[in-house]
Amino acid sequence: MAAPVAKDQEVELHVDTLAYGGNGVARLNGFVVFVRRGLPGDTVRARVTKVKRSHAEALATEVLAPGPARVDAPCAHYPACGGCRFQDLAYEAQLAAKQEQLADALRRLGGIGEPPLEPIVRAESPFHYRNKLEYSFTQLGDGPSLGFHKTGRWDEVLEVERCWLTTDLGNAIRNSVRAWAREEGLQAYDQATGEGYLRHLVVREARNTGQVLVQLVTAKGERFETGYFVDVLRAFPEVRSIHWSVNETPAEVTNLPTTLLWGDDAIEEELCGLRFRVRPNAFLQTNTAMAERLYELAVEYAGLTGRETVWDLYCGIGTIGLLTARDALTVWGIEVSEESVACALENADLNGITNAAFFAGNVGEAVEELRDRGGDPDVVVVDPPRAGLAGKALRRLGRIGAARIVYVSCNPTTLASDAKQLGAEWGYELVRARAVDMFPHTPHVETVALLERAA
Ligand SMILES: C[S@@+](CC[C@H](N)C(=O)[O-])C[C@H]1O[C@@H](n2cnc3c(N)ncnc32)[C@H](O)[C@@H]1O
Repeated sequence: MAAPVAKDQEVELHVDTLAYGGNGVARLNGFVVFVRRGLPGDTVRARVTKVKRSHAEALATEVLAPGPARVDAPCAHYPACGGCRFQDLAYEAQLAAKQEQLADALRRLGGIGEPPLEPIVRAESPFHYRNKLEYSFTQLGDGPSLGFHKTGRWDEVLEVERCWLTTDLGNAIRNSVRAWAREEGLQAYDQATGEGYLRHLVVREARNTGQVLVQLVTAKGERFETGYFVDVLRAFPEVRSIHWSVNETPAEVTNLPTTLLWGDDAIEEELCGLRFRVRPNAFLQTNTAMAERLYELAVEYAGLTGRETVWDLYCGIGTIGLLTARDALTVWGIEVSEESVACALENADLNGITNAAFFAGNVGEAVEELRDRGGDPDVVVVDPPRAGLAGKALRRLGRIGAARIVYVSCNPTTLASDAKQLGAEWGYELVRARAVDMFPHTPHVETVALLERAA
């Protein structure tokens, strides 16, 4: 079908649903238009931004008639701030959209006619749920400030006064670092010119223990009095660990070696009754309460009796592995980040768990060696990044052929295509799956899926 629209054309659209990724879906005489900022049920005026053979993209510029699930967004920075996408969509509608997106991915990309889905687990708190926030510094007329990138802009940062995804404590810490930066007369780093000094601030709050870790990222050189920076943060008794990183590259990253300025080198979090040490660069699910629900589901799906060998692949700081160790014979974990593996090993000790071992390695490469060392697994838990199981990891896991794979996924589309391949080539069947809403007001959704292979 020839596209019925042209770039920059203004059109009136009725939005039917939300696509995975967060855009509204509208149809013009059957031709699909993805509408940024369009919500289900809305009639909007929109400007076409891109036209392709199979679909077009548009930006809603005016809501002509709001859909039934439109609500007022509570945050003063919404929608300019790129942190949230759906504060104006009622939470029930967000849940329904995520459930449908998972079902649609499993049907379309997974080739599963009737996906065996359980109802999505709703977030315990739709706001203030994040335990880690990464802020960028920006230079304003009256001094440096902190905030998030503006929607769709990598080159512009929006100053944030109160973020609804963190806590009052998280907001207070960020605002006191802003006051410190101004008092010290420091300049924010400018991505375009490479001038300036302050780059990022990372605040991590272990929500169940109350411990906070702060990491400041600057450009090269020691241009601040570290003792005073520490004093400013120690005004918050929750702050237990203060780090400083230098980023000499243009890349906007915070995953950097750190110098400990004060306190313990790690903080501790408690999840499902176990303690976990968390260092600055170690992975920790960013919604503590819902991570507990996710892990409980993963353990339930693993169906352990105490006799199993469990592999925890992409294990991070060992969370899932250590939680399954209570009900398994042996647990082996693999993780590419050495810092996370160091935490996983410490965490086993911290909890007196002696039947779990963790190794640094790339899953695709390391599973054969693990099999030589530890024998065949009965249950494999995988929790890969958004790209899913890379080709080699999937093939090797297929060949190893554990009876049960518990797949924890942060991307329904790669979960669906991996499930399809595990089914078609290696005889696995998807028997249960359940989405968990870890990230309200964003398009992201986490899923736990159980794949079984007939003996
Ligand atoms: C989604 S996180 C899951 C971590 C852990 N299961 C948890 O819940 O905290 C994915 C982890 O996979 C690791 N990772 C990414 N690619 C990897 C690879 N090819 N081999 C091993 N680990 C990898 C990342 O460092 C990260 O810790």
